[in-house]
Amino acid sequence: SALPRSEPMDDATRQQLILAAQEARAHAYATYSDFTVGAALLTTEGRFVRGCNVENRSLGLTQCAERVAVGNAVVEGYRDFQALAIASRNGVTPCGACRQVLAEFCEDLPILLVQEEPVPETREVSLRLLLPDRFGRGGP
Ligand code: THU
Repeated sequence: SALPRSEPMDDATRQQLILAAQEARAHAYATYSDFTVGAALLTTEGRFVRGCNVENRSLGLTQCAERVAVGNAVVEGYRDFQALAIASRNGVTPCGACRQVLAEFCEDLPILLVQEEPVPETREVSLRLLLPDRFGRGGP
């Protein structure tokens, strides 16, 4: 199922999750690429945990918004998620590395891709769709 361990999100929650990702995006540190990204995880407890990209002068040290959100959630004691929203200018999908990091904690996860320009628009995908044959079972 697209929504493990929870009921489908109601419209108000979905809007709050999108808003949380947009708020997080406003804090992005993207001095080098100028491509700001905000992420928000909805925990099974109904909490919102945010992340934004954090770039670095040493470009390869850049942290993606999604992985920052996962780290923020784990340090707050949350490991079970209902949904993820990612806000960016053009509604990008998470990078391959972030997909694998999300897969550590989720069998599947609905992902809202929030585009801001040219018109605000949200598209829904899922982790299973984006990462169909993950490294996992039977591994180390
Ligand atoms: N970025 C994210 O934060 N998440 C994504 O899903 C794609 C890329 C960031 C990394 C870098 O700071 C900027 O976007 C441009 O690649």
